[in-house]
This record gives sequence, C-alpha cells and structure tokens, in this order.
Amino acid sequence: MIQKFENINSIKGELFLRGDKSISHRVVMFAAMADGISVIRNCSSSEDVRSTINCFEKLGCKFEITDDQIKVIGKGFKGFTKPNSELYAGNSGTTARLISGILSAQNFESVITGDESLSQRPMKRIVEPLRLMSADISVNKNGTLPIIIKPSLIKSIIYKLQIASAQVKSAMILCAIHLDEESVFIEETQTRNHTEKLLNLKTEITNEGIKIYVSKNNYPKPFELTIPADISSAAFFTVLGLLTKNSELIIRNVLLNETRTGVINILQQMGGKIEIENEREEKGEKVGGIRVYSSKLKNVSIPKTIIPNIIDEIPILSVAGIFAEGNFRINNAKELRVKESDRIKSLCNNFRKAGLTVDEFDDGFELSGNVSNAETIFESYDDHRIAMAFGVLSMIMKNGGSVNDFECVRISNPQFVEQVNSLCNY
Ligand code: S3P
Repeated sequence: MIQKFENINSIKGELFLRGDKSISHRVVMFAAMADGISVIRNCSSSEDVRSTINCFEKLGCKFEITDDQIKVIGKGFKGFTKPNSELYAGNSGTTARLISGILSAQNFESVITGDESLSQRPMKRIVEPLRLMSADISVNKNGTLPIIIKPSLIKSIIYKLQIASAQVKSAMILCAIHLDEESVFIEETQTRNHTEKLLNLKTEITNEGIKIYVSKNNYPKPFELTIPADISSAAFFTVLGLLTKNSELIIRNVLLNETRTGVINILQQMGGKIEIENEREEKGEKVGGIRVYSSKLKNVSIPKTIIPNIIDEIPILSVAGIFAEGNFRINNAKELRVKESDRIKSLCNNFRKAGLTVDEFDDGFELSGNVSNAETIFESYDDHRIAMAFGVLSMIMKNGGSVNDFECVRISNPQFVEQVNSLCNY
C-alpha cells in the first residue's frame, strides 16, 4: 500500500502511545514462564509482540486478550509443552533470539522460523555463545534461520559479551536463568537493560564492564504491570514536532530508561526544545512526559558509545539532521546493516531520492545539500522504522511525499497514521 502524506504546517496536542516494544516482548515471555496468572496493561499492539504471543501459545500458554489488558496463564519452570509445529517469529529478531535462550533449556526439540527479512538476519551471534553453555542449537550454513534446538544438559558460564546487543545478552540470560549455579555476563558497552531490570538481576559496574549475575533464583514469578509508552515510537513524533512550525506536543507516560533516551539527549544537544515532565519511577523504570516545541536545529557529532542506545532511532534522527545546520554524519553503526532491512542502504537510497548528496560508508553515512521540493515516492524496504522516518520527512517536504509498502508500520506501531492525523493542522 502506498501512503501519501501532505505537507504539515504545525502539530498540536497530546499523545498516549502503546507500551514499549522491547519491554512488551520480555513481559510476555516472563509471564509465560511464571507459574500462574499475570496481567499486562498497555502492551504493545505491534505485530512483533503478537509473534511472541503466538510462539508461547504454541508452547502451551493461554492468553486472554481484551482492549485494556492481557491475562497470561504461565506454565512455570520447564512447564512448556513441545510445540506441534515450527515456532514462527515473523519479522521479529527479539522473538527469535530471546526465545532461543529459553528453548535451549527445555527438554523437547523446537524449530524457529521467520519471514523473508528475519530469515536473512544473523543468528550465529546467539548460536555460538549458547553453545558455550552446552546448548544443542544450530542454524543453516549461512548462519540464518531456521534455528533448531534439541534438549541438552546446559551449564552455567562466565562470559564476556562479544557484540553490543541486548538480544544476544538477553538470550544468554534467559538460558542461564534455568540453572542453579550462577552465571556471570560482562558487558563492555551498555545496551538496553530491560531484561536485567524486569528479572531483578544483580548488576555491578567494574573495570571490565557491567557484570550481570543470573541464576534460577531470578526465575520470574506472576506479576501485574503497566508498560510505559514506547520511546522509539515517540521519537518519530518528537522529530515531527521539532521540525514543523508553531508546534507543541506532549507525549505522556513515556519510558525514560537511560539505555534508551539517547535520541532525546542528542536532539536536545542539537538545540531541540524538549522538556521532560512529571518524571517518576514506576516498577523500576523511569517514566515521564516528553513535551516538544518547534526548534531550530544544528548537527552535533554522535559518539561511538551512544550508538547501541540510539540504534533504532538513527533513521528518524537522520531526518532531523537534514534540516539542521551543518551536515548530518553517523559512523560506528554497522549494526544498521543487519536490521529489518540494511538500514544504511535503505536510508541512503531514500535520501538520494529526496535530492540530497549522500556519502555512504561501511558503518554509516553523511548527508549534505538540500531536500528537493519535488513530490517524491520513498521505499519502505518493508522496514517499519524506514517507513515512518520517510513518512515524517514527507510531511516536512513542501509538496508532501509518499511511502511505498507503508503497511509494514504494523510491525511496531499500527496506529501511526491515526496518531499523526490526531495532531495535524494542515
Ligand atoms: C532490541 C535490541 C536491539 C534493537 C531491537 C530490539 C531488544 O537489537 O535494535 O529493535 O528488544 O532487545 P540488538 O540487540 O540486536 O542490537
């Protein structure tokens, strides 16, 4: 489906977004693992989280989904039952990778598959470290799906994480949580820490990095939780508010965990007028309102250490960058090449279409020149964050623009167009 966006003068209003996708995946998994009934409110309505729910239904869990909550009847320690077919993770890397850690500790065989995009994404990054814990896990010769997991006697580990990836870290934690003996994971560059927080893991900052301790003592118990709004979805509206004139927008109850707020910090450094309101802690996570005003931006240098924190927001950050003084440049972001699409390529191709001069590097890109006024049709590359980033750019372009295959936004935010319409004064 091709989605057309008109140029927007200004946005005004208030947004309540659905729960953070990273947290929603984990909360669904932990409720499924717990022995008894858990209640989840404001769960992400994304197709990715639906993929996680589908997999756990196949493993014997029951989900009662209503408009305002999800009731999960969890199976308890090693209580999952052998699925009668493959577990289909759809487009979701988080589903495929995290569930692999859990399944490595079960005493039945399972097979994980996914859609065309997920089937091209690297899985060796979880297979190799899980094998060090004696998991019997394999992938095809290209290092991609399907993942086949057979029962084995897993063992604890002390392991320095080799890639700055919360998915790899979480897969290992979720395997280790099935063992009496403690495992220790050492993380040099911090990545999102929702798994650690939700499971109440002991962590320690040392000279070697952050040490994370996990054993069966941390196995999840039934809980009730309201998930804060998704900061990655909020980033698209934040940039739209900054770039349109006379705009003022408040996004309520957003997750403000420091491993995720890099995008807000960078936009503020760029001169973005963004205020955090009513900041508070809710069940271990920082939450607050993000108030955004139209602003004049300038580009800043983006340090290597912040890349894992902003990895999902680079598409929309680069859209902000093209309207900022100076050139937008990003490096050290090679991971973008193995996301839902090769995001460096997807971004560079679309920015060229918009009339910009693009310098593409192996690990990033630099943008210069001005956006053309010609009405442009962008490609989503079936990647939700590319689709939304160029939806925002289209709304800033003088004659508007369109995005092909826009329906892929269902992967993280099916309500995107509705939410834009609720804020717009054309
Ligand atoms: C995620 C971690 C990140 C991120 C992805 C969600 C998570 O991936 O890009 O969208 O929920 O753990 P990596 O861990 O592969 O960097």
